[in-house]
Amino acid sequence: MRAIYAVGNWKMNKSGRESATYIETLAPLVKNSPARVLLAAPFTAIGAAAAAAKDTSLSIGAQNIHPARDGAFTGEISALMLKEAGASFVLVGHSERRRLFGESDEFIREKVVRCLQSDLLPILCIGETESEREGHKTRAVLARQIESALHGVPKEEALKIALAYEPVWAIGTGKTASAETVEETHALCRSILDELLGKKSGEKISILYGGSVKPDHISQLLAKREVDGVLVGGAALDPHSFAQIVMNCKK
Ligand code: 13P
Repeated sequence: MRAIYAVGNWKMNKSGRESATYIETLAPLVKNSPARVLLAAPFTAIGAAAAAAKDTSLSIGAQNIHPARDGAFTGEISALMLKEAGASFVLVGHSERRRLFGESDEFIREKVVRCLQSDLLPILCIGETESEREGHKTRAVLARQIESALHGVPKEEALKIALAYEPVWAIGTGKTASAETVEETHALCRSILDELLGKKSGEKISILYGGSVKPDHISQLLAKREVDGVLVGGAALDPHSFAQIVMNCKK
């Protein structure tokens, strides 16, 4: 059985204090959650969020990491720092990082490797743009992103990641991919994983969907066999709306 995840990505929102207030509201609402509940906090809020989440079932993580152990990387953050602050997972390769900050496939691979070496769950984000989908390049783009991120990673390690399919055209646009498109594309990702890691490997990795997820269509998404949860931006900023999403992450 694959793990089901409801992940909130706060992006560049919420101070430490705001995070603590949010968690105090969210925690009781999702006490009996059918999914694992994860919150990707800004670096400066991880400590406060982790402290607030201490006696709850919520897990706190980061939105980015630097692959080096330490060194002269002004403005960056290491695995050790994240872990000490209380992070247990990291979003890697988010399309905003790829697009706005020029992160390459190779850099993303190094981050995945660092997470795995540091016992941090990497949630590898992948997704095609609208023109790539319209140009029938979805498979090629997703295959490139998955294969490059896992290049040289031993199979038993690669199976520890979670994947988040976030079509770029659906992020922050209000244009959610239909449940059918998500189902079909997650199956595509699993076939890419099978080719890369061996038969039936894809079915061992949780694949989440992200892109304009809202409480009203969460049940349709989760009803699909290939969907193991969601990665939520805008609708995760309010604890009540995120709680509604979490509680509907039932398989
Ligand atoms: P929205 O839910 O705001 O579209 O953001 C999705 C996302 O980027 C989550 O990582």
